[in-house]
Amino acid sequence: MKILGVSGSLRKRSLNTKLLHAARELAPEGLEIEIAAIDEIPVFNEDVQAQECPPATHSFRERIAAADALLFATPEYNYSMSGVLKNAIDWASRPPAQPFAGRKAGIIGASMGALGTARAQYHLRQVGVFLDIHFMNRPEVMVGAAHEKFDAGGRLVHAPTREQLRRSWPRLPSLLEVREAAPGSDPPIRS
Ligand code: FNR
Repeated sequence: MKILGVSGSLRKRSLNTKLLHAARELAPEGLEIEIAAIDEIPVFNEDVQAQECPPATHSFRERIAAADALLFATPEYNYSMSGVLKNAIDWASRPPAQPFAGRKAGIIGASMGALGTARAQYHLRQVGVFLDIHFMNRPEVMVGAAHEKFDAGGRLVHAPTREQLRRSWPRLPSLLEVREAAPGSDPPIRS
């Protein structure tokens, strides 16, 4: 099973990228987790998109399409997801074929504040409604005071958070199995 991880932060010492690496470290055997690079995706401009999709955008879209599931690690910026994450999603979502529809996904997030990106995660879920992303509802992984939970080398050292991540992992593959075994979960009707 192939999972594509996407961190919504480009900074080198990003807590969210570290959390994504921790999720990869703690994943059960059999899950192949790749991390997508979104740093070369330009700022969305519909004029550019109408002419030609930039290569970084094209490759992001293809990697989404090739994954069995997605794992977003989203920072919280001004009570929402980061602009770079929304920008990458916006690019990948454009016609002719948006790769998100029916795709299973989990969300994790880390912030220095107490709420651990809760508000950003709910915004991301809202975006996923339009794109028909099938988000895992529980467990929610919202890591507050995250700057205290990694060591100098960027490894997650906070035992309860490690345990929470480890416990959350089996849910994503089991969601995949349930969905695949249950045909007839029609996409929502939109007018
Ligand atoms: C933040 N930060 C922040 N934190 C939070 O808990 N709620 C918020 O609304 C915001 N808003 C916000 C806006 C902007 C523009 C910045 C730069 C930062 C703090 C933020 O969570 C913190 O910098 C994280 O460390 C960012 O994630 P990465 O880069 O560490 O993954």
